[in-house]
Amino acid sequence: MLRAAVFALSHLLLPGAVAATAGPGHVCKDFHIAVNVTVPYYDVDLSIETHWDLVDYIFNSTRRDSSEVFHPVGRNHTETTTSKIGATFCRPRARGKTSETVLLLTHGSMVDRSYWNPVFAGSEQYNFVQHALDAGYSVFFYDRLGSGTSDRPSPITQVQFAPQVAILNSLTRLLQRSSSPYTLNTPIRKVVHIGHSFGAFVAAAALATAPPGTTTTPGTLPHPAPGDALVLTGFSGRFEWLSLFTAGGQARVAALQFPHKWAHLPHGYMVPVDAYAAAYGGFRSPFFDRRVAEWLYEHQSPYAIGEALTAGAWALDFGSIAVPVQVVQGRYDLTACGGNCGGVLDGTAALFTGSPKVEVNGDFEGGHNLNFHYEAKKSYEAIIEFVREAV
Ligand SMILES: *[C@@H]1O[C@H](CO)[C@@H](O)[C@H](O)[C@H]1NC(C)=O
Ligand SMILES: *[C@@H]1O[C@H](CO)[C@@H](O)[C@H](O)[C@H]1NC(C)=O
Ligand SMILES: *[C@@H]1O[C@H](CO)[C@@H](O)[C@H](O)[C@H]1NC(C)=O
Repeated sequence: MLRAAVFALSHLLLPGAVAATAGPGHVCKDFHIAVNVTVPYYDVDLSIETHWDLVDYIFNSTRRDSSEVFHPVGRNHTETTTSKIGATFCRPRARGKTSETVLLLTHGSMVDRSYWNPVFAGSEQYNFVQHALDAGYSVFFYDRLGSGTSDRPSPITQVQFAPQVAILNSLTRLLQRSSSPYTLNTPIRKVVHIGHSFGAFVAAAALATAPPGTTTTPGTLPHPAPGDALVLTGFSGRFEWLSLFTAGGQARVAALQFPHKWAHLPHGYMVPVDAYAAAYGGFRSPFFDRRVAEWLYEHQSPYAIGEALTAGAWALDFGSIAVPVQVVQGRYDLTACGGNCGGVLDGTAALFTGSPKVEVNGDFEGGHNLNFHYEAKKSYEAIIEFVREAV
């Protein structure tokens, strides 16, 4: 009872995403960074106005012959766009060799950067940012285009996969730059990318060589590598179970479902119909606290229909990733493994033919949103151990 009361109070005190929270031993700063990218954008033949349109879309994209009959993504054209990206950099108060490695965190769908830094009563055990800072690393986490405090342009024509990747490449270079304004006077020598779910695909694409399109942020110097190691969570490299997530989530138009919060958003921004549908895709009983899943639904960020649609158009070659890779998985991940990662992750490891080291930790008791299960901390320890050895 008491715990529930504390929870309710934390809802009142902390509406929306909470960003720059520093523990006693850390310093953090929030930024709004203008990033220009020049990339191919795709014409998408899709119009979403009402919930009915989404029901139609869900049917189209999950029917068994969808790949044969449903082709909303058409031709591409190159465009240069400027986006404002919300981000936070944190470092341990006492700088040292370890803090010259930054962990660059890319979140998945339906959340924003607070995925890595949730703040509510009892959230310490789920907080990756605090865990990494306690281990001595610097951390940079940002809202992907279309979520949190970042720009929310057209969810169909603008929030697409290619700009997400190019924005991440730009942010990486901004951190690597000597005297970067975004690192609180910390010289950054190594960048470790950590991505979750859709963010894992974005991070992998950023590290795969020869991405289509180039970034044009002036003042950034060419750097030999787009990063030094890669950690993928909520990821198996396979897509065939996405339809479970799509059908099970029963997406609704965010502006119509929650007008008090999101009436201003274009109608291609979506939310799962309710907390239970969201939990079906993200959680596995009995390995989580249901109130935590409810908190996550309350603090979700609507996601754009265009980014997943256009990801399929990108020929992502995992074999061209040349840095150490770690795959960290909840054993019962629905989206990545169809609800059972057993027998799936050997194939995932085999994708990274160009990596000097591939490590798979797939035994954590949890579902897709592993960070919000009881074993989150355990998975963070495995990630930090990998990072220590890899860079
Ligand atoms: C679904 O597919 C049908 C054709 O099979 C098409 O007419 C309709 O526009 C599609 N709707 C959406 C929202 O994808
Ligand atoms: C973009 O379109 C051009 C011309 O239609 C095509 O050759 C190219 O492969 C496309 N690029 C991507 C990244 O899809
Ligand atoms: C981005 O492009 C705009 C106009 O195209 C330009 O005015 C601006 O200086 C550029 N900003 C950055 C950060 O590159």
